Amino acid sequence: MATISAGSGTNDDAPGPSDPRIDPDRLLATLSRFATFGATDGGGLNRLSLGDADGQARDELCAIARRRGYRVEVDPIGNIFITRPGLDETLPVVLVGSHLDSQPFGGRYDGAYGVLAGLEVLLSLDDAGVRTRRPVTLVDWTNEEGARFSPGLLGSGVVAGTISLADAQARTDADGITVGQELDRLGYRGAFDSSSLAVHRSFETHIEQGPVLERTGTDIGVVNGVQAIRWFDVLVQGQDRHAGTTAHSDRQDALVAAARLIDVVDQMADTVDEDLRATVGEIRVQPNSRNVIPGRAVLSIDLRHPDPARLDQAEEQLRRAAAEVGEQRGVRTEVHQVLEMPPTAFDAETTDLIRRAAASLGRSAMEMSSGAGHDSMNVASRAPASMLFIPCVDGLSHTQAEDIHDEWAVNGASVLLTAVRWAADEPAGHSPE
Ligand code: GLV
Ligand code: MN
Ligand code: MN
Repeated sequence: MATISAGSGTNDDAPGPSDPRIDPDRLLATLSRFATFGATDGGGLNRLSLGDADGQARDELCAIARRRGYRVEVDPIGNIFITRPGLDETLPVVLVGSHLDSQPFGGRYDGAYGVLAGLEVLLSLDDAGVRTRRPVTLVDWTNEEGARFSPGLLGSGVVAGTISLADAQARTDADGITVGQELDRLGYRGAFDSSSLAVHRSFETHIEQGPVLERTGTDIGVVNGVQAIRWFDVLVQGQDRHAGTTAHSDRQDALVAAARLIDVVDQMADTVDEDLRATVGEIRVQPNSRNVIPGRAVLSIDLRHPDPARLDQAEEQLRRAAAEVGEQRGVRTEVHQVLEMPPTAFDAETTDLIRRAAASLGRSAMEMSSGAGHDSMNVASRAPASMLFIPCVDGLSHTQAEDIHDEWAVNGASVLLTAVRWAADEPAGHSPE
């Protein structure tokens, strides 16, 4: 593992500092290179957390960092921390980063853009010979998506204390493989004590994943917070039986009961309000065979709203509907909550740094809140945190069709660099410490 002093940006013989600028060609080349790890035929990514492709992307990130002499540290849930030292190593770090995992058929930029724009910030500081007062630490969070292992935001959740390390490591995928087994297989069960990492400010840049910035022709979204999220698994237990011999009046068909429930979830926005987002994204049916009446179904449900009281209402409807459908269809239903994220308000001063950084570079910006969940929600419970968004084409995300324009990528990284540099030069004693 590289030592701190080997970093080229910390070399006393390095040329004097110039104004750091991100290198657009390098950033775009890095984005393209990382998009090869888990590339799908449809132009997207299948880079599930702690799978082989995630391992390749992690290895590549660490290799780049080690070549630059950055300190690479991995904690016991596999979060990777890459630190470019500051002049005063006793000061809390400025954190940048996001996640390298993707949805099963996801896009190339959700998460990866934030990690690789953060990497470009470190490299640009190096190239300009800038020595920041504080260390700057790039993070890749484990299992942000929650697509393979539930819940999402797992790595940052361990650091924030919303889930215990033992529980997180014991989470299983659909094949019963645990997070801990995969960490060991890939060599990413580290010993770094990330929960004691002191963070001065945290910045995460991300694609918007919605249409507003592109539609309004705005370069940068200055993110003031994130709506509340609740995830549930609903188990529907009936009886599997022969499809040809069982009259409909004798059936306890778990899939038909689940279908009734899906309809209720889809209509919740009509009864709660239009800001509710209620989605059944996944259904697992057993035995999943053409000529067997399904005996068991498990649905994943994702509910979101800026106001937790509205989510209470939606949850109450879900629980009531599950009980009613169970009774009507002669099946047993169980509703299990697997994730609870309250709404997050990002730190006003950190958000303002992003706003001012965009203005200083002549970039248009608008304040917005995030409909998608992010690890910064967990970070915000421990340190001043905020986010900046760049547009994405047609607002598409969580699909292989996700895309961005080169100049959007460059704009976001440039604003990130400016904000990070300002934050990293804030003196000791400056708020928020
Ligand atoms: C994160 O990808 C989310 O589900 O919002
Ligand atoms: Mn993301
Ligand atoms: Mn995502």
